[in-house]
Amino acid sequence: MSLSTAHRTVGSADDPAWFRHVLGQYPTGVCVITAQPEDGPPIGMVVGSFSSVSLNPPLVGFYPSVTSETWPHLQRAGNWCVNILAAHQTDVCRRIATAPLAERFDGVPWRPAPSGAPIIDGAVAWIDCVPVAVHDAGDHKIALAEVRHLDTASTELPLLFFRSGYGSFAPLTLTAYDPEMRLTRPLRHFELIRSIAQELPDHGLRCLVTAPVSDSVVVVGQLDPPSATPSAQPTTLVGQRLPFRPHGPSIFEAWAPEREQEAWVARFAPDSQEAEIRALARIRERGFSIGLGSEGHRRFAAALERLAAEPGAVGNEELDALVASLDYEPPELSDEVLAQARVISAPVFDNEGNPVLALTVFGFKARPDVVRAAIAAVTACAGRATSSLGS
Ligand SMILES: Cc1cc2nc3c(=O)[nH]c(=O)nc-3n(C[C@H](O)[C@H](O)[C@H](O)COP(=O)(O)O)c2cc1C
Repeated sequence: MSLSTAHRTVGSADDPAWFRHVLGQYPTGVCVITAQPEDGPPIGMVVGSFSSVSLNPPLVGFYPSVTSETWPHLQRAGNWCVNILAAHQTDVCRRIATAPLAERFDGVPWRPAPSGAPIIDGAVAWIDCVPVAVHDAGDHKIALAEVRHLDTASTELPLLFFRSGYGSFAPLTLTAYDPEMRLTRPLRHFELIRSIAQELPDHGLRCLVTAPVSDSVVVVGQLDPPSATPSAQPTTLVGQRLPFRPHGPSIFEAWAPEREQEAWVARFAPDSQEAEIRALARIRERGFSIGLGSEGHRRFAAALERLAAEPGAVGNEELDALVASLDYEPPELSDEVLAQARVISAPVFDNEGNPVLALTVFGFKARPDVVRAAIAAVTACAGRATSSLGS
């Protein structure tokens, strides 16, 4: 039958070949529904009609043919396990679709699901379920089952069936598995402003680009002047999670909506809430956050060096305690205070006005003129980065 639509009239649903041809334009995955009868070898049936049906209650279903010899055996079994086959499992698929019922698992390695039904080795995922209803649907049945246990079992791509042939999935967009874009979005923001942030190392400043991710701040970029890069063993803080806790730098909270700020301030001990409200106001007025050198700061910097060399070298609790010991947002920026500055952060806003990244510079000399120049450089750079994101 020609695929061309130029020289034919619209086909009839009464023509089974035409029906199959048109419906064959829709690809399906390939599953094996397995069961372990009480009195014999495991059984399995290949289906392309498997589908997720309901979340509450958790139901799945498939359409067995009324002529299937396997179906009555599956129906008698008290449990099914749905195996989503991987793209390389066409041999398993062919064996189970064609071998006599009692021989389908010969040479097919499997392990029991919680119900005892087979999980086929190499399957992408399995869904252990209990049959709950069967409905008539022409020459097929609609079989529904309630899910009890389920898991992914490999990161392989699934097997697909399309126009009577097997194949696998070729993504048109290569996106990482990050459904809520928690990490992907900040990574993309950093990529968009990377060339602008690159000015900071040109000024001799070391720069970390961070983003709020859930209850943490995550380093998404690190830009060092060439001279600051250790020669023997390159190190990086990219991917490092830093606690986003009261007493840390509050750069991402300073421009947050009022309600969110109130919730943030409420996390402080009652006697330090006023101070935090003033600190947030200072960050907003100044347009940057400033941290002063102190014993806590020196220990924090040393911890970061260790983390850059080896992720996980400093435990979460130790990192939390170090962040809490830092000294941020002094009321006055006199020469004497500026001479103690060790770290300056400026926010980058997205096109909706949310602070989505912070450019944090450090590694400059603790001299008032040098610190003023660093403040000017990082705030100007953050401003240009904000404009480039469309805000
Ligand atoms: C890719 C593929 C998808 C299939 N999908 C279904 C299906 O959704 N429903 C069904 O009844 N049979 C389906 N079959 C056919 C069954 O696997 C099986 O071959 C058929 O039921 C005949 O075997 P039986 O009589 O031993 O059950 C499919 C076969 C293949 C190869």
